[in-house]
Order: sequence, then structure tokens, then C-alpha cells
Amino acid sequence: MNKTSSSSISSNVLWQHSIVTRNLREAQGGHRGVIVWFTGLSGSGKSTLAHSVEERLFNLGCKTFVLDGDNVRHGLCGDLGFSEQDRVENIRRVGEVAKLFMQAGVIVLTAFISPFREDRARVRNLVGNGDFIEVFCDATLAVCESRDVKGLYKMARAGKIAEFTGISSPYEKPEAPDLIVETGGADLDACVNEVINLLIHHDVIKSA
Ligand code: ADX
Repeated sequence: MNKTSSSSISSNVLWQHSIVTRNLREAQGGHRGVIVWFTGLSGSGKSTLAHSVEERLFNLGCKTFVLDGDNVRHGLCGDLGFSEQDRVENIRRVGEVAKLFMQAGVIVLTAFISPFREDRARVRNLVGNGDFIEVFCDATLAVCESRDVKGLYKMARAGKIAEFTGISSPYEKPEAPDLIVETGGADLDACVNEVINLLIHHDVIKSA
């Protein structure tokens, strides 16, 4: 286990080992703990897909949890805005929290724009390759903007929101995601099936 994942370790703090290990928790739960990381533009369908996948997994008896940008920013990351520096910190915190859930044997589904490749790679490195499954919600800016569920694109175009992803702040597409889901056009159920099949492929769950 990586005991020194943070770059700044407080002094005089030691690592307390668990008696109930991740392996024991996973054996009890009947599936692996893992992070399924959904990334994509605002309005690309990350949350919708993550919650629908969660529902399917929950009905299969799995332990699941969704970490969602819009929710986390009300609490844990309520002090952060959308500057590059704050987004980096947002994803760093979420990565650490997701890791804790994963170690508790939970299938964690995260729905954050997470626009920077380096930040997503940092989370992958934090937990190891097999524990981080990256799903790119591939909806074009035009589609996301035409949906504009929250009316934020309109405000961003009008200059009322600064540093808005896709408009005035960059989004770096994943170069080698584990899965690309056509959330811009495909039927939601079909997208959910693709993610579930991926989880079977990665030995997270045995069957659906
Ligand atoms: S991230 O870039 O740090 O990963 P996060 O996923 O937490 O972003 O939050 C994105 C959500 O915040 C969007 O879906 C949108 O509802 C809202 N939001 C508010 N301001 C912005 C902005 N400037 N850029 C992107 N999303 C914004």
C-alpha cells in the first residue's frame, strides 16, 4: 500500500494499519472496490450516466457511491472556484476521497469535468492502474451547449461566467481512456450497458 501518497506529510504522523483490510471488505461485498472516473464537458451527461450506472449496480447488490462535482462543491470543495489552481485542488481532494471509498470496497463513480490530463493521471497514479477506470463522456461542445440544462453556457457566452470549460477555459480530452461513451447521441441505457460490460471486463463484477 502506498503510505506516502501526499507530497506534504505532516511531521510525527505514522501510518495506522487496518485489521479489516481492503481484501476482507471486498470478499464480504462480493466485488472489487474501484474508481470509475467519468470526465467530459459540463452537460456531457457524466452525472446522468454515473447515477444510472450506480442504480444498475445497486440493484445487483453492489456497494456504490457517486461523487458528483455539483454536490462536492457545496461542501468538501465549497472553498474552491474554477481557476486552474482551484480545479487542480478540486480533483486532488476528490481523488483522495475516491481512494478512501475504494479501499472501503466501494465502486466509486466520479462525475467531474476534470479538464486536465495531468490531474486525471495523478489520480490514476495515486491508486494504481487497475483501480482507476477512465470513461470519457464524449459529447461535443455544440451538443452540450445546445442542451444547456443549467443555462450556464448562455451566461458564459454573454461573459457573465469567467473561465467556463469549453468556452474560456480548456478541456483536454483523454488520449487513452478505458472507454469512450457517445453521451452526445446514444441512448442512456446503451451507455449504461457499455460501462457495466467494462466493469465485467475489468473483473470488478462477475456478471450483470
Ligand atoms: S472541475 O473542472 O473542477 O472538474 P466540476 O466538475 O467540479 O469542475 O464542476 C463543474 C460544474 O460546475 C459544472 O457542471 C457547472 O454546473 C458548474 N460550473 C460553474 N462555473 C463553472 C465554470 N467556470 N466552468 C465549468 N463549470 C462550471
